[in-house]
Amino acid sequence: MRTPFLLAGDHDRKRRMENASDTQSAPGGGRRNFLGLVTAATAAAGAGACLWPFLQSLAPRDSAAAHLPVDVDVSALPPGQQIVVTWQGKPVFITHRTPESLAALQDAALTSRLRDGQSQDQQQPPYAANWHRSIEPRYGVVVGVCTHLGCVPAYRPLPEGQADGRWPGGYACPCHGSKFDLAGRVFRGAPAPYNLPVPPYSMPSPTLIRLGENPAGQVFDFSTIRQL
Ligand code: FES
Repeated sequence: MRTPFLLAGDHDRKRRMENASDTQSAPGGGRRNFLGLVTAATAAAGAGACLWPFLQSLAPRDSAAAHLPVDVDVSALPPGQQIVVTWQGKPVFITHRTPESLAALQDAALTSRLRDGQSQDQQQPPYAANWHRSIEPRYGVVVGVCTHLGCVPAYRPLPEGQADGRWPGGYACPCHGSKFDLAGRVFRGAPAPYNLPVPPYSMPSPTLIRLGENPAGQVFDFSTIRQL
């Protein structure tokens, strides 16, 4: 049986996924779903707290299982919502982007205000160096660690309620105010120097994301990114 958001290709992956999901919706959307067990790490991600480096330091680092690919079934992830998955001790934000948010990512008025709107810095695999910074435009996949000092940015997909009316929504770091769009691209003037990293991943099917494994024929070593 396939568990919504959590798909395991084998028992090891399934065990890893059972503690690795937190679905988040747009503020004001009136719906927040939590599936499975939420780890302390993903709870920190949901709260946008600055606890990730501390929590990460408590996690086992050298476990062979920690380096296995992680499968995430996104077939039941509604548009506008996000799931947080733990991959190699890091929070990974997987977002189902709406047609409206995809249009915003291509808005020239927006991209002109981004520090690296064309993904020139190596903060993503070559196959995600495009306007949506992903394999499939609908699904955003970024490591949720701010490139300033490592806080976990909060998911704020809608601009409403923001003091800065020019921000279209995306991710807001609670620590020193860095703002990113829904492709993880940082806005100029923020303390964060680089876009949020994109991890290596593939999509064996249109709704299955496999974190930690490049698409066939592609090479990308996550340790070569400019900054985590
Ligand atoms: S850690 Fe994100 S802005 Fe400082």
